[in-house]
Amino acid sequence: MKHQGLGPVLAIANQKGGVGKTTTSVNLAASLAALEKKVLLLDLDPQGNASSGLGIDKQEANISLYDVLVGDCSLVEAMRHTNFEGLSIVPASMDLAGAEVELVGMAQREYRLSHAFSAYQGNERFDYVIIDCPPALNLLTVNALTAADRVMITLQTEFYALEGLTQLLETIRRIRQALNPNLDMDGILLTMVDRRNKLAVQVEQEVRDYFGAQVYETIIPRNVRLSEAPSFGIPALQHDIRSKGAQAYLALAREMLLRHSAPQAMEV
Ligand SMILES: Nc1ncnc2c1ncn2[C@@H]1O[C@H](COP(=O)(O)OP(=O)(O)OP(=O)(O)O)[C@@H](O)[C@H]1O
Ligand SMILES: [Mg+2]
Repeated sequence: MKHQGLGPVLAIANQKGGVGKTTTSVNLAASLAALEKKVLLLDLDPQGNASSGLGIDKQEANISLYDVLVGDCSLVEAMRHTNFEGLSIVPASMDLAGAEVELVGMAQREYRLSHAFSAYQGNERFDYVIIDCPPALNLLTVNALTAADRVMITLQTEFYALEGLTQLLETIRRIRQALNPNLDMDGILLTMVDRRNKLAVQVEQEVRDYFGAQVYETIIPRNVRLSEAPSFGIPALQHDIRSKGAQAYLALAREMLLRHSAPQAMEV
């Protein structure tokens, strides 16, 4: 953990769109909070789905992660509590789409988020910081990976699941080499799994054979409660705690806490 009071920082990434990054960010964050961890969620995607999924209208968010990245305000000024006990958020705004371009001309452009973390002097101590990355390997994602301690990759179990994965792993390797030597692979999470589908079972097996212990044992099933919850602006845990989706994210949070408390067990 490299940032005082903030950590570990977990980036949830995949440049592929619609593979469960935001659903995982929101519901893993809420599950960790339900297990009495203090969690800060950062919405780094101009689409702002994690923000709206937690009831924050991105038009309304007058201070956002954009302001932090361009240096107009501190992390403390941009964060706010959510209605979910133990869970705070720095929301996104549409400006983030422009930040990509603006950051290019700025000093230390890959380190903007990392520096905002280093400057953190808030009273609150967060046990976990979770970053929901946009579906691109752009400067925003590079900022997330440069600031993070660990990266989790979500994979939707379908025929094209592994498409683009080589490029993502290569990007992680390059960032480790040039920008953030401490970046660890947290693991691979299989999302939207439908085990009645033969192809999905086959894809899961291939991923497990290839990546071994890096793949979380917990899988996230396809579950309608997970897709409904954001329209109410709440995590699935609050929408329907008994649903398979909510329970899967709770199981994921438990598995993660266990893995992080016994890092050796994870070596591959
Ligand atoms: N386990 C699941 N069961 C059912 N629907 C799901 C599940 N996970 C995600 N979804 C739905 O699939 C869609 C894509 O999920 P999500 O937004 O989490 O992916 P993403 O990787 O963040 O997408 P983007 O790349 O656009 O940011 C959303 O409509 C979401 O509600
Ligand atoms: Mg998303």
